[in-house]
Amino acid sequence: MGSPFSNAKLAAPLFAIQAKTGLKGNIRPPGDKSISHRSLLLNAMAVGHSCVTGLLEGEDVIDMAKALRQLGATIERREVEASIEWHIDGVGVQGFQEPENILNMGNSGTAARLLAGAIAGCRNFAVMTGDASLRSRPMARVTEPLTMMGAQFWTRSNGRLPMAIRGAANPMPLDFTSPVASAQVKSALLLAGLAAPGETRIVEPVMSRDHTERMLSRMGATIQSGLAIGENGWEVRLVGQPELCAIDVDVPADISSAAFPMVATLITPDSEVRLNHIGLNPARAGLVTTLQEMGGDIEVVNTHDVGGEPVGDILVRTSTLKGIDVPPARAASMIDEYPILAIAAAAAEGQTRMRGIGELRVKESDRIALMAEGLASAGVKVTESDDELLVTGSSHIQGDCTVSTALDHRIAMSFLILGLISKHPITIDDSSPISTSFPSFQALMASLGAEFGKPKQ
Ligand code: S3P
Repeated sequence: MGSPFSNAKLAAPLFAIQAKTGLKGNIRPPGDKSISHRSLLLNAMAVGHSCVTGLLEGEDVIDMAKALRQLGATIERREVEASIEWHIDGVGVQGFQEPENILNMGNSGTAARLLAGAIAGCRNFAVMTGDASLRSRPMARVTEPLTMMGAQFWTRSNGRLPMAIRGAANPMPLDFTSPVASAQVKSALLLAGLAAPGETRIVEPVMSRDHTERMLSRMGATIQSGLAIGENGWEVRLVGQPELCAIDVDVPADISSAAFPMVATLITPDSEVRLNHIGLNPARAGLVTTLQEMGGDIEVVNTHDVGGEPVGDILVRTSTLKGIDVPPARAASMIDEYPILAIAAAAAEGQTRMRGIGELRVKESDRIALMAEGLASAGVKVTESDDELLVTGSSHIQGDCTVSTALDHRIAMSFLILGLISKHPITIDDSSPISTSFPSFQALMASLGAEFGKPKQ
């Protein structure tokens, strides 16, 4: 019998070949996943026509596009000379139609949760499901507050997908304090709040990524954020029922994808790589600070603004890294980067302690458990607790193991990177989930000089 996470597609094991010569080159990683989702969804909820360039064409975003078409938005991919454009005709806030069939959100928590919020504000019925990983993830964090706004949800036990949604006929604004710093929760509530009269206010313990707020503001919504007065945390206030104007978006490259070649370059001898046009939103850039604190030779140059988001190029060179303590307050700004940080930590001198990372247990997989298991099998000393990971670095990574990835793209890419410096190969049991966020991973890494192999069956 297969594991509960076995993929419907054929598993594609893969390993990296130890990089004997350094990684060198100049690349632009694919478009930011969070901004890509929002550029399609928010433009679908706006009035007018928009054009998105630089969109991530990973499976997660494609699943979002398919669902939006089922909800009545017109979304078209056009190849114009050498570039690809995505054209959207929005239906307006509350304009989604009842989908005729089930919405399949694949592996994407962002697509599922943001759409749950958008649908909650429309007077119609929809059913949503996803792959084995997504069907195991908690949805109550969005369904409970969205219920307070007037929507109804029917989920499987423990608030898991599949779920049915009946949107609110007359959504009410919400004043909600979220126990977790989650941009998915915040965005879902803001999207439902667009349909409610009056002000929706959300407080989160620490500011999470604010791409939704930036984009809504550019579309003409009245939205403000800042430290919550008299409360610990970050507050966002949105005035409901705006006329959202469609906007063109140039999606910057994803810092969460750039993180893989960045760490690969730091830990591979004789390497020097330039990562171009990377989104550097401060709510996303915690990994750069952390790696610099570890002694990483990382320089950010050519910073400028692209459509309300800071963007720049990152120069990285091989470095001797040392272990550090990564504080809980930094977790939100690098929440997706802990798997690859754990790889940098494995190659560093001394211990790296990652604190306040309990949210990692409910990502595409339980990332604390899978990183600990994979690192231990590669011969790295590691201990985990509820919300911490402690990695003791070494200049000698044994490898010679097969790592379980449980449909988690970031676990898969992280262990391929560790395999670049391990004495014996590290095989990942399945590389296919990488295409959810970084379909060109192997090709871009190969252009820098990394080689991969498929194990003989
Ligand atoms: C995302 C928010 C984060 C992140 C995810 C993308 C987003 O999730 O882990 O990959 O685009 O809003 P949480 O909101 O669960 O922290």
